[in-house]
Amino acid sequence: MPTTLLQSNLPGLDLIHRGKVRDVYALPGNRLLIVATDRLSAFDVVLPDPIPGKGEMLTQISNFWFGKTAHLVPNHLLDVPLAEVLPPGTDLALYEKRAVVTRRLKPVPVEAIARGYLIGSGWKDYQASGSLCGIKLPAGLKQAQQLAEPIFTPSTKAAVGDHDENVSFDAVIAAVGPDLAEQVRVATLTIYQWAAAYAAERGIIIADTKLEFGTDEDGKLYVMDEMLTPDSSRFWPAEEYRVGISPPSYDKQFVRDYLEDQGWNKQAPGPHVPAGVIGVTAAKYADALQRLADLKLD
Ligand SMILES: Nc1ncnc2c1ncn2[C@@H]1O[C@H](COP(=O)(O)OP(=O)(O)OP(=O)(O)O)[C@@H](O)[C@H]1O
Ligand SMILES: [Mg+2]
Repeated sequence: MPTTLLQSNLPGLDLIHRGKVRDVYALPGNRLLIVATDRLSAFDVVLPDPIPGKGEMLTQISNFWFGKTAHLVPNHLLDVPLAEVLPPGTDLALYEKRAVVTRRLKPVPVEAIARGYLIGSGWKDYQASGSLCGIKLPAGLKQAQQLAEPIFTPSTKAAVGDHDENVSFDAVIAAVGPDLAEQVRVATLTIYQWAAAYAAERGIIIADTKLEFGTDEDGKLYVMDEMLTPDSSRFWPAEEYRVGISPPSYDKQFVRDYLEDQGWNKQAPGPHVPAGVIGVTAAKYADALQRLADLKLD
């Protein structure tokens, strides 16, 4: 049975950040303990009800991809047993599948997005301007159409409550310098391309994905946070893909659709979600884990 955790509680550890989904603790030796909770955010608001096991699924999916892509781009994971860092008396079973020990990195202040298909804000921007993050695209593309080649479409990391905004590659260069900007661009496209090919063999299209990067004291670049999860990516079942429509996906769209139907104003606090919707959402995360990583939580 998956465990359920809305908020972590690790007395004695130094909580440095409670994100929408993850609780982040500082560990000695310039390391972090990152706990993925079962919080669900929609439209950037954290909903009051947990999705049981979601944090475990996110962590397991991320760990799977971090492992698979480690030969391409170094990642933040450290091979430290959790029992070594959790406070004495902690329920190990509650944390072992949802927590990781990582390097503590200096975040690169950009959401590194790769897109292989035209959907979401990419589709919106293209319709408005014919281009995306300053990249001119051919005329006449349709919604959900595959791009001739994957493109790097960075966005700014918005403060809590704000929405991210697509920016040009030049804006990234201005923020972090040409060298780091190019490293992030290449790493993002490399990971996306590798993962998209991997998923394609399993009948899943990865339409786009968002990565986060950080640097260590020596300026070395690592991919951090989460990787290729349903929260950070659009996964489409290949058999249901059609150009011109927004395909059903393994992400939070199901909850978003429910919330849209409720007429909620998208301001905090978010509404309670019925058990049926929570159940379907949990099943979608489990299905993504199974189909992509061939993993099952038991
Ligand atoms: N190895 C790392 N070193 C430093 N920071 C990291 C590392 N891995 C992840 N983070 C940061 O930890 C946080 C994870 O929390 P979470 O994903 O819940 O945040 P979020 O709600 O997406 O974003 P926000 O930080 O804006 O609240 C993010 O701010 C992420 O950038
Ligand atoms: Mg996050």
